[in-house]
Amino acid sequence: MSTDPFALFDAWYAEARTTEPNDSNAMAVATVDTQGQPSVRMVLLKGHNTDGFVFYTNRESRKTGELAATPKAALLFHWKSLRRQIRIEGTVSQVSDAESDAYFATRSRDSQLGAWASDQSRPLDSRATFEARYEAARTRFEGGDVPRPPHWGGYRVAPGRIEFWQDRAHRLHERRVFARTADGWQEGMLYP
Ligand SMILES: Cc1cc2nc3c(=O)[nH]c(=O)nc-3n(C[C@H](O)[C@H](O)[C@H](O)COP(=O)(O)O)c2cc1C
Repeated sequence: MSTDPFALFDAWYAEARTTEPNDSNAMAVATVDTQGQPSVRMVLLKGHNTDGFVFYTNRESRKTGELAATPKAALLFHWKSLRRQIRIEGTVSQVSDAESDAYFATRSRDSQLGAWASDQSRPLDSRATFEARYEAARTRFEGGDVPRPPHWGGYRVAPGRIEFWQDRAHRLHERRVFARTADGWQEGMLYP
């Protein structure tokens, strides 16, 4: 059995890319506020390697406010047609400006303009206000590249624990858990 959780992640993720009809890179991200209240929302995985799992968002959003105070998060992938889930827990850091710039440059122009228009997690009086902000961004950057807004960037979750759950017949599901130790990863199995 592989004791490299990243290799196992890669294998499951590659399979999900071919089997899931939509957003196989969608994952739930749970954060916690200063009162200990958890909150969770979906984001898209935009990069991963042995350093961690990266998503991009508005740096003035609720989730990032919570991450600033408590830089820990839990991620969850659920691939329904494969009947698998992966749970990841770890510490969070901001992705560098250079890495965020490079990813932002690959986004569609619409998404780039949307990043300028969105005041994520803040109250919005009407859809028309959002559309007006989008139009304003479109006019502002007409004829040139859209730069990354300063309030938009990536976060990397460096895992300390990764658990792979696989549906098996007769509810004898399989749970393989990997915990980071001083010299690598230790694998165990849990009752389902
Ligand atoms: C499938 C899916 C993918 C999403 N991907 C992202 C994403 O990559 N980044 C992001 O900021 N929000 C994404 N969202 C929106 C978030 O779920 C959420 O509404 C937003 O980030 C605000 O969350 P917050 O107020 O807790 O910070 C996605 C939503 C769905 C349903």
